[in-house]
Amino acid sequence: MQFETLPGFREFYPDACARRNHVFGRWRQVARAFNFLEYDAPVLEPLELYIEKSGEEIVGQLFNFEDRGGRAVALRPEMTPSLARLIGAKANSLKRPVKWFNIGEHYRYERPQKGRLRAFYQFNVDIFGEPGPSADAELIALLCQTLQSFGLNSEDFKVRLSDRDLWLLMLAAEGLDASGSAAVLGIIDKLERTERGTIIEKLAVILGDAAEKFLGRIEAAIAIRTFSELRSYIECLPLEGDLASQAQARISDWQQLLRHLEAAGAGDFVQIDLGIVRGLAYYTGFVFEAFEASGEGRALAGGGRYDALIKKLGGPDMPAVGFAMGDVTLMDLLDSRGRMPAYVQRPDFIVIIGGEAERDAALGDAAQLRSVGYQVEYPLKSQGFGKQFKAANQSGARLALIYGEDELSRGLVKVRDLASGHELEIGRDQLLQRAPSLLEGGFENETE
Ligand code: HAM
Repeated sequence: MQFETLPGFREFYPDACARRNHVFGRWRQVARAFNFLEYDAPVLEPLELYIEKSGEEIVGQLFNFEDRGGRAVALRPEMTPSLARLIGAKANSLKRPVKWFNIGEHYRYERPQKGRLRAFYQFNVDIFGEPGPSADAELIALLCQTLQSFGLNSEDFKVRLSDRDLWLLMLAAEGLDASGSAAVLGIIDKLERTERGTIIEKLAVILGDAAEKFLGRIEAAIAIRTFSELRSYIECLPLEGDLASQAQARISDWQQLLRHLEAAGAGDFVQIDLGIVRGLAYYTGFVFEAFEASGEGRALAGGGRYDALIKKLGGPDMPAVGFAMGDVTLMDLLDSRGRMPAYVQRPDFIVIIGGEAERDAALGDAAQLRSVGYQVEYPLKSQGFGKQFKAANQSGARLALIYGEDELSRGLVKVRDLASGHELEIGRDQLLQRAPSLLEGGFENETE
């Protein structure tokens, strides 16, 4: 009987692993360029951690079960709650701002479809301890630079930027309290995927007859694309006292964020779009999602501010902002734009031996080359020269090291450039020393 993988889980044959490593390599490189430190956390966590902190949508997708000790546990659907716990536990001893990243697998019981699997990788990048928009800007710039590092540009992707604080102010201006606002934000989150009639029905539960007009005002806010439109919209909100000064402060936060993004070179990618509110329960301020430029397909990345989460998990009051990028939608986009390099792993050297008498000498040399980091392919079984040369040509190796009876008796090894066919005999004791120039400059620079 043959077993198949579970739906939504992937196997990684070596070529798929090479593609994955390419993506992970770029993620890590950009995170380091911004001086973020790498961390990790368990893949299995107490179920409770997600029930309260992640929000309904993720809780409905958990891989959860009871372990043998009777504990309710879940495979991690996202990193943020674990990370908030890690940070909260050490908050007082960590140097601020804390800038951390992780690359790891996550699990959600979603319906497998294009861009959505049940096991996928995320690149999580977060900053703690900095309340101002400079942290949000740093992360959005990092997000853009990550996508650019794969060769993508402003024709390929966009980051849609929104603000939950601003929504709460706008909804307060509409007379909604906290629970009414939360319900409306849940509806706005699904606006693009829901029929207008259904939206009005849902809004009517909260707002009665005013639902349709209210939706008109929401739609006007979502259509805003420029800062000046945004500013006039906010300035015209019927707010008083404390709420009015919060609205003023929000305008200057927006101004600062957009200025930083422009200066960091991310301006071309970022689009004001209040249609983004994010489904996860913990977000508080600026929120953003990256999409393929046409806006089609599932998000490439998503994140935002979550200033209250660490305290909710028993830690101190500590502002936080972060995002996660997924590997599935990213690789689909890279494939569609021809930005996924075809990786072929090529050895530096391939060893060819005349017969069993030459094996030990060849193996000794291969061991030395391998110990200093060269990639060396070595024959595990005896074969004639013809077959070995054919295999050497197919291997993609740069150089063949040929160990014949005659060469060995003189302390030599024959080196063959497999591309040009040039050959050269060198002392075996010279092999390590001459390997770099033989591999780099080929044979032209070498004299006998
Ligand atoms: P999220 O929007 O749920 O945010 O996920 C972030 C990204 O992970 C998505 O944009 C998508 O690329 C990828 N992703 C999510 N679910 C799947 C799936 N089933 N299959 C393939 N890819 C998927 C979060 O997870 C937040 N914790 C991000 C965050 C970090 N916020 C602050 N810090």
